[in-house]
Amino acid sequence: MTPVTKFAVKEKYQYLEGFGSYHQSEAFPGANPLVNNSPQKPPYGLRTERISGSSFTAPRDHNLQTFMYRQTSSLKHSKFVPYNNKSTANPPSYLSPNSSLWPSVPVDPDADWLTQTLLAQNGDAATKTGLAIWLFSIAQSMKPNVAFSSLDGDCLIIPQAGTLNIQTELGKLLVRQNEICVIPRGIRYCVTLPAGPARGYMCELFQGHFRLPELGPIGSTGLANIRDFQIPTACFDGELKGDVAVANNTEYTIISRQAGRLWFCTQDHTPFDVAAWHGTFYPYKYDLARYCVMGNLLFDEHDPSLYTLLSAPSNREPGTNVVDFAIIPPRWMVAEDTLRLPYFHRNTMSEFFGLIANVQDPEHGLNGGGQEFRPFVAGLHGCMTTHGAVEADFQRATKSTLKPEKLGTEGLTVFLLETELPLYLSDWAVEAAGHGPKSKTQISSKM
Ligand SMILES: [Fe+2]
Repeated sequence: MTPVTKFAVKEKYQYLEGFGSYHQSEAFPGANPLVNNSPQKPPYGLRTERISGSSFTAPRDHNLQTFMYRQTSSLKHSKFVPYNNKSTANPPSYLSPNSSLWPSVPVDPDADWLTQTLLAQNGDAATKTGLAIWLFSIAQSMKPNVAFSSLDGDCLIIPQAGTLNIQTELGKLLVRQNEICVIPRGIRYCVTLPAGPARGYMCELFQGHFRLPELGPIGSTGLANIRDFQIPTACFDGELKGDVAVANNTEYTIISRQAGRLWFCTQDHTPFDVAAWHGTFYPYKYDLARYCVMGNLLFDEHDPSLYTLLSAPSNREPGTNVVDFAIIPPRWMVAEDTLRLPYFHRNTMSEFFGLIANVQDPEHGLNGGGQEFRPFVAGLHGCMTTHGAVEADFQRATKSTLKPEKLGTEGLTVFLLETELPLYLSDWAVEAAGHGPKSKTQISSKM
């Protein structure tokens, strides 16, 4: 069995491979200058432009910089002005000791990538602390000649269903159900839908960048392996005319999100005119089926940190992260004399969770039948909020015959976003979770 997802939509792009490596790519031979970063006359009549994802003096393994060689600098544009759109939301302000469950997100047939629903946030984008969690449920491609970027942070995109075709300044990615991708802060991109509606989650990281977790006693491989991360290759929207790269220039609208607010400007050229680039600051994607799961081989349920895929380190307390992104994919369960459910627990970290379903089976319950599984589910257990199995699952688990079994074969992957600071809920999230004054719902679930 090759551990890759059997995707319904075939791959159509080529990628570089290797998380965190120094990569270089060129749409035309020799489009990256040899040795010089900023020669007097770059090849093909291009201009040098740099994008920095870290301070210049960050340590080498934290230094994120990319040189781009493009026809027209992104400097050339009109003044940014506020953009009125319903994805512009007030900062979340609701904090409670209750767990939350969001059973569904309504599909807006007119929604495109610019229509995102803010669910929760901690920290503050303007001070580069914390993160925001967004939902998308879209049925339309972005309009032609429009590009988006987040100035607030790197965006981890987790499709729950559907396929996203993402054209970025540094190249194109096809991101399908059971893949994730990260678009760095400031990189401009557009999202089209090649196979119908798509929905999912997004973690916008205000503070730092995602990194692979340290492996400690695991050794040098395991969990998410470095070579399985895929990076787009340079894609120039235009052609060579003689020895000059000529882009398909047209009027473009550039929409940027800053501190949760949308702004826009116009320009008379495509943002996708990068003929070559080299550096360490780039988008990437990852197929969740490639994740090398570690598990409990004799007894007890290990901490979910053993399922970490990406982490964003914090300097608040040793070993504490702004966020850990973990997945619990299909895997073997073999533990002896063990309650094969997470024990009841409460954590200082806040735990947001969601489902990625390869097969959407209406008979499959979020809590073993305790609650109806719907097309879209997310939940949150806040700081020190006790959670665990519902009673029916607990009783079943105490009586079950313990034998090796493969879990998740129905194609259900759970992901977690464990974050160090309490998450404030948006107005939408409060209402959708039923936290109104008359609600008495007590949420209990696994994880
Ligand atoms: Fe938990």
